[in-house]
Amino acid sequence: MDVPFRPGPAVLPPRGPCGGPRGRRGAWVAPWEDRGVSAHQQTAASPFIRACRGESVPHTPVWFMRQAGRSLPEYLKVREGVPMLESCMRPELVTEITLQPVRRHGVDAAVYFSDIVVPLKAIGIDLDIKPGVGPVVADPVRTRADLARLRPLEPDDVSYVTEAVGMLTAELGATPLIGFTGAPFTLASYLIEGGPSRTYEHTKAMMYGEPELWADLVDRLADIAAAFLTVQIEAGASAVQVFDSWAGALAPADYRRYAMPASAKVFDAAAGYGVPRIHFGVGTGELLGLMGEAGADVVGVDWRVPLDEAARRVGPGKALQGNLDPAVLFAPTAAVETKAQEVLDAAAAAGTGHVFNLGHGVMPNTPPDALTRLVDFVHRATAV
Ligand code: CP3
Repeated sequence: MDVPFRPGPAVLPPRGPCGGPRGRRGAWVAPWEDRGVSAHQQTAASPFIRACRGESVPHTPVWFMRQAGRSLPEYLKVREGVPMLESCMRPELVTEITLQPVRRHGVDAAVYFSDIVVPLKAIGIDLDIKPGVGPVVADPVRTRADLARLRPLEPDDVSYVTEAVGMLTAELGATPLIGFTGAPFTLASYLIEGGPSRTYEHTKAMMYGEPELWADLVDRLADIAAAFLTVQIEAGASAVQVFDSWAGALAPADYRRYAMPASAKVFDAAAGYGVPRIHFGVGTGELLGLMGEAGADVVGVDWRVPLDEAARRVGPGKALQGNLDPAVLFAPTAAVETKAQEVLDAAAAAGTGHVFNLGHGVMPNTPPDALTRLVDFVHRATAV
């Protein structure tokens, strides 16, 4: 059965403010669910899922980390007066924001609109996301007594996620939805530092100075991250990405010892569902092999390592995602296309499955049209 998602307002039901409500909640059944076809089956033949599995594709699939939100005028409009964390807890708003880049750019996958700190908020950690700054934690986690604040995440804590994913998969049809979580190391860095950091001094002080406390902390975070991913997969997410954005701060031996076991626990929890698992970090050139070993099917690469070299570091049997420098999008179209073609050539030389993406998230002032043109370019340049 093929029910392609056609981006564009025409296929969306009439909406009130913020994109919802979409009718009687709970009463609506997606056409394929009616016929016993799950969202996972519905998306299995999509270029994105096929590329993650290293299968042949009609064109190289494209999506962008942080494609939802950022500079889109339609995003700024629906977010007006709604704090970031609150917007993550409103299923109609989450659905609308997640769909916006799919409609506008024609990307091959949607990424669930949320944030890596949402599961921490959901278990009662006092934190906020400050515009232009990022997550800020009121009372940093620094002692064994502080661990008690990290209780397990139950599906009911994030019922809005289950609801939003259900609404999204119904709208998206054959276009996959990517669920995500932060990795234990990156989550720990926010909890311990209390906010963004350049040096990770408190994080590393605990890691090296109190290795048992550190191990217990990242183990709890692994359970929370795994539960958050599982909720998204069970509700219908077709693939998942684990963001270990700041793991590049670690040398390989320290990554292996202090971060990898907890990340592997997260990947193991998702293994049984058969959905592709993507693993991404920034400045992780020296860690690519280990990040694959942690349990990923697809390894995300930032812009510092060409994909053919990344393939050598990751080894056989895994696909790659990446890796255009996000700053390239501020250059004229011809330059963007030259740089994008270099990525495609390196991917072809790598000979693995390839999901085109940026080497990190879309930067806030990126011209939206540059992203739309890039999607079109990659599709045209790789069409078979
Ligand atoms: O990819 C998407 O489009 C989905 C949404 C998404 C957000 N955050 C929304 C968001 C995703 C996947 C994330 C992941 C995330 N959050 C990561 C990993 C990805 C990466 O960039 O490395 C990290 C490290 C965070 C933590 C975080 N949250 C930071 C550092 C920031 C501030 C950065 C900024 O540009 O302001 C946030 C806030 C945040 N997360 C916003 C959005 C839309 C901005 C919210 C606002 O300011 O109103």
